[in-house]
Amino acid sequence: MKSPIRVAVTGAAGQIGYSLLPRIASGAMFGPDQPVILQLIEAPIEKAMKALEGVAMELDDCAFPLLKGIVMTDDPRVGFKDANWCLLVGAKPRGPGMERADLLKDNGTIFISQGQIIDAVSAADARVAVVGNPANTNCMIAASQAKRLTPDRFTAMVRLDQNRAQTQLAKKAGVDLTEVKNIFIYGNHSPTMFPAFAHATIAGKPATSVITDTAWLHGAFCETVGKRGAAIIAARGASSAASAANALTDHVRSLVTPGAVHSIAVKSNGAYGFDPAVWAGMPVRTTTPGSYEVITSYVMDDFAKSKIATTNKELVDERGFVADMIK
Ligand code: NAD
Ligand code: LMR
Repeated sequence: MKSPIRVAVTGAAGQIGYSLLPRIASGAMFGPDQPVILQLIEAPIEKAMKALEGVAMELDDCAFPLLKGIVMTDDPRVGFKDANWCLLVGAKPRGPGMERADLLKDNGTIFISQGQIIDAVSAADARVAVVGNPANTNCMIAASQAKRLTPDRFTAMVRLDQNRAQTQLAKKAGVDLTEVKNIFIYGNHSPTMFPAFAHATIAGKPATSVITDTAWLHGAFCETVGKRGAAIIAARGASSAASAANALTDHVRSLVTPGAVHSIAVKSNGAYGFDPAVWAGMPVRTTTPGSYEVITSYVMDDFAKSKIATTNKELVDERGFVADMIK
């Protein structure tokens, strides 16, 4: 049996946390032979900490063989202590009618503090995955505070968008979901994101030769994927939770699986024409568990370049909006 790894989760008593924690404790995230200790962090609010106790009771009642301990705390210094993975889910969620930009300042303060504490107390091999919105910029903010952990340790989630895009392509083509491959997300986790359909394959053929409705690919497809989060908020009155937890499970599982090719938001370093200092979604290949190389070989046509320019501008604007906070 392997030694347990420590997995810190913020916002653990929230909606995503409720779907996520059983996935971690069951082995879906780190594998069926990897024991875990959950370090659950909530806001210092009585109601949230009380709810967290209930979540921990339910985890106990699941009798997961891989779950070797639960820490519950409202102190991030305790919660991130020696953590191998820090899953930053907790944030103020977007409500009906709000845009992510509205949340930047509120959430920026949280991610500055968490970035500093993670850098100070987490394990030597710590990896950070950010879900709380605006996820790309929150990730950039947390990474900006780290002196010990290098920027590549900080990733933000665009896997939900990849999963959404895969399903939309499969439905349009009338094929099984598993026939759709190599659909990657570029840019921000926001309506400006670009799902690069021209590189996708369906049953081994270029997606554009199977789906010849170019107007749909350029229009309804990109729009449906980009605005899916808002559509779910409009329908449920709350942001996606089960699918977000599932996507984070996929994000981390792919990141610990050498050879996996998947979309994550990383420090762009100028790849695909993104501003070097923003965190942008792009395809990566996992090299060793927790590490990856960006796949830079995809060639973009004019449509793709214009979509990337739009989502890059939004990321640059978001960075500008918090520039005074990250000095
Ligand atoms: P939620 O409101 O149900 O839960 C958030 C939890 O975070 C709450 O329990 C709250 O007390 C806690 N929290 C707030 N500040 C905290 C802090 N400083 N430290 C620790 N905990 C803190 O929200 P949710 O539905 O679970 O969503 C969480 C976040 O994920 C939101 O920002 C949401 O917009 C985002 N989200 C991202 C994606 C994505 O694909 N990247 C998808 C869905 C949702
Ligand atoms: C989603 O994509 O479902 C969420 O990020 C929506 C949101 O803004 O909370």
